[in-house]
Amino acid sequence: MAKLTLDRILQSQGFGSRKYCRELVEDGEVAVNGVVVTDWRSTPDTSGLVLRVFDEDWTYRERLYIALNKPAGYECSRKPSHHPAVLTLLPEQFGWRDVQPVGRLDHDTTGLLLLSDDGAFIHAQSSPRRHVPKRYLATTHAPVTEPLLQALREGVQLHDEPAPLRALSCEAVGERQIEIVLEQGKYHQVKRMLAAAGNHCEALRRISVGGLTLDMLGLAEGEWCYLEEAQLALLRAG
Ligand code: URA
Repeated sequence: MAKLTLDRILQSQGFGSRKYCRELVEDGEVAVNGVVVTDWRSTPDTSGLVLRVFDEDWTYRERLYIALNKPAGYECSRKPSHHPAVLTLLPEQFGWRDVQPVGRLDHDTTGLLLLSDDGAFIHAQSSPRRHVPKRYLATTHAPVTEPLLQALREGVQLHDEPAPLRALSCEAVGERQIEIVLEQGKYHQVKRMLAAAGNHCEALRRISVGGLTLDMLGLAEGEWCYLEEAQLALLRAG
């Protein structure tokens, strides 16, 4: 395969237009594996490549797979209306790479959010046919009762759905807290299911997607990390 020139490599990593990336290189702002390179026509090997741009190191990644511990008060939309976008929590160049959330969490939902610039990955993860289980911790307004858990397990009818939606599993984990696992990702699904079952969701946190849990990643709220092959395999394993 033809090797990419440095300006194209920088562009592919989200550092700006080719023209701007050429200027960055010519201005001595780019180091390749620790050595400043001023010729944008150079063709470094991308495998294991570390680019230093404005004194910050970035390992070359053909595609980005990211996990964010989403805080409340951020919207997953690219054009947010009332709150800042989750993308503002990531390095600026990720936005230029067209990194997008895999599915959406409400602005007040916290927890595990995946993001990527790999369209096939986003599609596969969010496809309803894949039935990727998603686990949530929901804090309820009224105490959790056995009939509530039973209703969520057996299925509740939401007004715009053709058939009742049920949880894959649902357990009480506190007087006003449940752990609920869903395989669909309908709009406000946990909140609407709780409302349809006669309670109200006061706070919602996603704690796992497939076999990948937030605990494994050790991210504080607002922190993000790259997902490596082993973690991506956990997502696929479900
Ligand atoms: N269900 C909801 O109600 N909101 C979310 O953000 C995710 C699942």
